[in-house]
Amino acid sequence: MESTIIVTGGAGFIGSSLVRFLLESTDRRVVNIDKLTYSGHRASVAPLEKHPRYAFRRLDVADQADIAEVFTKESPEAVMHLAAESHVDRSIDSPLEFVQTNAVGTATLLECATDYWESLPEEDAERFRFLNVSTDEVFGELGPTGKFTEDTPYDPHSPYSASKAAADHFCRAWHDTYGLPVLISNCANNYGPRQFPEKLIPVVILNALAGDPIPIYGDGSNVRDWLHVQDHVRGLWTILTEGEPGETYNVGADVQKTNLELVRTICAELDERVETTDVDEHADLITFVDDRPGHDNRYAIDASKLSQELGWQPNIDFLTGIGRTVQWYLDNLDWCNTVMDDADQSIDERLGTRGS
Ligand SMILES: NC(=O)c1ccc[n+]([C@@H]2O[C@H](COP(=O)([O-])OP(=O)(O)OC[C@H]3O[C@@H](n4cnc5c(N)ncnc54)[C@H](O)[C@@H]3O)[C@@H](O)[C@H]2O)c1
Repeated sequence: MESTIIVTGGAGFIGSSLVRFLLESTDRRVVNIDKLTYSGHRASVAPLEKHPRYAFRRLDVADQADIAEVFTKESPEAVMHLAAESHVDRSIDSPLEFVQTNAVGTATLLECATDYWESLPEEDAERFRFLNVSTDEVFGELGPTGKFTEDTPYDPHSPYSASKAAADHFCRAWHDTYGLPVLISNCANNYGPRQFPEKLIPVVILNALAGDPIPIYGDGSNVRDWLHVQDHVRGLWTILTEGEPGETYNVGADVQKTNLELVRTICAELDERVETTDVDEHADLITFVDDRPGHDNRYAIDASKLSQELGWQPNIDFLTGIGRTVQWYLDNLDWCNTVMDDADQSIDERLGTRGS
């Protein structure tokens, strides 16, 4: 069997970092399957296009015939499944798109993977792995104390997290019913380069640069746990290569911040790098707006299983990582303009108010 890994969603934020990691830090061939929705862009993987171990296929993970053909043609040793509709606000406006890609798409991929895996010689079948990349949002929300562990019951609140929970349940079902060697990772909020400019961190940076109001939902007290995307993709590789099929691993760096703290940190990083025009400091642009319906109060991840059993540790500290992220956006405004133009997207557009 060729040492090929299928990555789905490899033109997205985390997927494009994962593809880079696999090409730079392993000897594997990478086949990137991506539908190129508004949030996936070839500009995110353009520098990799000529790499001898990289191939791109523009496909929908929910298209069974196309995906089955890729398995037959590429004979992968593993699948790392990241393709998803990923923005909570959009899931509030258009929930069925999330059901289609995240639930139906994952089940389709599992089905194709199982047909392929059952056809493999024993040694190759033993080696095959399917890693489903999921989120801590499936666990719902926490009160003032405590953290999500792998045993926390699922309690999703948004159409996004419900569709990701469905995907995780399908993965367990395919493992328990057919024996497919599936692993699941549930990760905290990621930050880093190439995140589509509709999510909090790029919105803050781009609005601040434009001198526009920086919107914060509610009073900014919602707490998120933050992990640099490069630590995440290293964790995914550790789980894929060292993890036990059938197991779930939480991934996080134990960095809990309120949204207001996060935004203030980004503003301070910007203050060090760029002049403000109409205000004294970038934080003066912070504006509180109506909260998101069903906005989860607090997430915090206990990743001790991953560190104790598989030896993974995050190694990018929060302030360094945020500073680097701010600098990346400053250096790559062309990328922001390209992906926003192609998606016909404006960051001023408020999404996800249905139900409020
Ligand atoms: N961003 C986070 O903080 C975070 C945290 C934990 C887990 N996750 C999970 O990690 C994965 C990647 O997240 P992201 O932030 O990179 O998302 P993203 O929106 O940036 O990227 C998703 C990618 O999937 C592609 N895609 C969407 N529908 C598809 C389909 N039907 N077929 C093929 N490709 C399709 C898109 O074109 C895009 O390239 C998701 O599964 C998400 O649930 C994200």
